[in-house]
Amino acid sequence: MQNTPERLSRWTVVQHWVVALGVIVMVPLGLYFTSLEHGPLQTRLFTIHVTLGLVILVFAFPRVFQRLYRTLPEVPGGHAPWETRLAKTVQWGLIALTALMPLIGITIIMSMGGRLAVAGVTLLPGTGVKVEWLHDATETLHWLGAWAIVGLFALHFSGAMKHVLIDKDGTVRRMLGQTVER
Ligand code: HEM
Ligand code: HEM
Repeated sequence: MQNTPERLSRWTVVQHWVVALGVIVMVPLGLYFTSLEHGPLQTRLFTIHVTLGLVILVFAFPRVFQRLYRTLPEVPGGHAPWETRLAKTVQWGLIALTALMPLIGITIIMSMGGRLAVAGVTLLPGTGVKVEWLHDATETLHWLGAWAIVGLFALHFSGAMKHVLIDKDGTVRRMLGQTVER
């Protein structure tokens, strides 16, 4: 099914909520596990971080190309052009960052010479060679990316609440899979 002004496809809705809820867990999880001493709890949380991050990648990466081809249609009723422009810019920031963050995370691991593994299955073998500059650069980018997501999410969430509380339109209901009226 295609996205229409009245209804979004099931894929669009599932993709949005898997990535959104995933990111809402990932940022505090990342900040928490990096604050812990090395030990079994840190290792377990890091494994969850990597696994959930790869799930986010699978859903977020195709969206970049889908949205280059076609953005979401406007909800019936319409909004001021500046509102639509701001909303789309914030959405593009989130689309790009949710696809990039897992790729940067993978590069952090590879730059340490480590292997990328999920449930004991090696997805990318380690080289055993640490590349210091790449490691420092990707760690910094991962940290900056996480805080950029937090900032954009604050704007995005405020916009969503404006739709619910002030505009009283169907934008959020449409992203929850419901059909909105013309
Ligand atoms: C949307 C997905 C992701 C988000 C929002 C996210 C967020 C975070 C945050 C907030 C931190 C703590 C701050 C920092 O030190 O950078 C962190 C650390 C880390 N993340 Fe992620 N992450 C994501 C995906 C991944 C993936 C897929 C991997 C690996 C495959 C990964 C690997 C790491 C590593 C190695 C660290 C520790 C970096 C350090 O020690 O400074 N992340 N992540
Ligand atoms: C409770 C929190 C959230 C609510 C209520 C919400 C709501 C919405 C709504 C209503 C739309 C559709 C806007 C439109 O029709 O123009 C949307 C789109 C979008 N949201 Fe969220 N969102 C939330 C969390 C997040 C998070 C955490 C992220 C990512 C970090 C995110 C990323 C996006 C993106 C990238 C789009 C564009 C979707 C596309 O082009 O397929 N959202 N959101």
